[in-house]
Amino acid sequence: MRRLAAIVLLCAGCSACGGVQSALDANGAHAAHILSLFWLFTGICVAVWVLVMLGLGLALRRRKSERQGSERTARLWVGSLVGLTVAILAALTAASFLTGHSLAALGEGDDLTLKVTGHQWWWEVRYEDPDPSRVLTLANEIHIPVGRTVKLELASTDVIHSFWVPSLNGKTDLVPGRDNTMTVRAERPGVYRGQCAEFCGFQHAHMAILVIAEPEAEFAHWYEAQLRPADEPDDPDRRRGRDVFVSGACAMCHQIRGTPTGGRVGPDLTHLASRRTIAAGTLPMGPENIAGWLADPQGLKPGNNMPRVDLSPDDLQALTLYLAGLK
Ligand code: CUA
Repeated sequence: MRRLAAIVLLCAGCSACGGVQSALDANGAHAAHILSLFWLFTGICVAVWVLVMLGLGLALRRRKSERQGSERTARLWVGSLVGLTVAILAALTAASFLTGHSLAALGEGDDLTLKVTGHQWWWEVRYEDPDPSRVLTLANEIHIPVGRTVKLELASTDVIHSFWVPSLNGKTDLVPGRDNTMTVRAERPGVYRGQCAEFCGFQHAHMAILVIAEPEAEFAHWYEAQLRPADEPDDPDRRRGRDVFVSGACAMCHQIRGTPTGGRVGPDLTHLASRRTIAAGTLPMGPENIAGWLADPQGLKPGNNMPRVDLSPDDLQALTLYLAGLK
């Protein structure tokens, strides 16, 4: 039984080391510094633990066999170990300070600024640009160019959230009324999953964000594609879907650029189907899940702000086709 528990623990431990969301799989400049600090702390703490256990074992043996020993020796031991403890704590404090210094030295990243706003329970992302026609508003997915330091301005409209993409950097809170900033720099292309790291209500666990790091050219291509308004529907079913969207309840909360909608309560859906997930990581993107979400948003993510909208089966199908085509 014990052996089985050990194997299970070992497997669980190893599975946490890799993958799309792990602080032990550093792919960003900031995360790499934090990971070095983590291993330094872990190594020293393990060494101290082993030494304490050895010391304890030795002391117990000596006590059994001799029950003697001079007071002076004991005092000497205690004194030097107190000294060693102070030295170790000072060294760890210094290492922590130096890591903070290295993180600050990575710079502010002025060339690409994103405003990330936390909502219960999704992420609004706005790419800032001096040219207003190039400002881009998206949700739940960030694309960044590899090797560039990106500045994130963090805000919240309701409660405290926390932005945490462990492969790229540590956590920073999004606090209502107080704007925090952080920077990320991906060193390798990849998809890095992040998660709200501050309990923010019922669906806190369904508040994920994906950061997609890609080479500069791919990023620029993606950006241009996202700036474009939604394509005109090319068949009657999708046109019907668009009409359902524009004339129904959807338009009160959502926006699809290129249509007469401008709702800002919920995520911008202009290129919804180009994203990898629905409802901040709740479901993988796909027509079936879009239909499922439209049919029962409260069943899939209870407590979220999207109400169930009564649609006829034909309208539901048309709307699904339309949304699934918003690449
Ligand atoms: Cu947002 Cu937890």
